[in-house]
Amino acid sequence: MRIGILVYSHTGNTLSVATKLGEKLRAAGHSVTIEPIKLVGERKQGVRDVELAPLPNPGPYDVLVIGSPVEAFSLSPVAVKALQQIASLEKKSVLCLVTQGLPLPWLGGNRAIRQMKALCEAKGATVRGGAIVNWVAKSLDRRIADAVDKLAALV
Ligand SMILES: Cc1cc2nc3c(=O)[nH]c(=O)nc-3n(C[C@H](O)[C@H](O)[C@H](O)COP(=O)(O)O)c2cc1C
Repeated sequence: MRIGILVYSHTGNTLSVATKLGEKLRAAGHSVTIEPIKLVGERKQGVRDVELAPLPNPGPYDVLVIGSPVEAFSLSPVAVKALQQIASLEKKSVLCLVTQGLPLPWLGGNRAIRQMKALCEAKGATVRGGAIVNWVAKSLDRRIADAVDKLAALV
């Protein structure tokens, strides 16, 4: 399958999980492209209104993985804007990947997944599921591996 991993990552955490997922999916025989969601210029601290660089085209992919951090107990405003502006996701299957700094999913991760799902469905996608990685030191590698396995199993 042709899989596009569209990822916003400010400090690199979400991108690092996306990269591991990409490696696993390629090893399973899929064609995988990681496409960063980028801003025009630098992100200013505390500023939620962002200007996006031209967005990746979802057209070539059968399955999309959308990756984003949690910000302020919600989906990052960058991912929100990207999913509002992205081209149609009709006939696309989507998997959601979220990372968060706090240790519990109800401190933003669950809400971010729900927001991502609703935004993707509003664009016509079928959302197959998602995974949250809580970015706290204890057993981080294990949690990343579990999230990668969970998402790979949904493809
Ligand atoms: C402005 C801002 C707000 C954040 N708010 C939350 C939050 O509400 N809950 C949480 O668990 N983590 C929060 N975080 C932590 C990030 O979600 C976490 O570090 C994430 O893994 C960063 O991903 P990235 O490196 O891909 O940007 C916040 C980070 C920033 C910069």
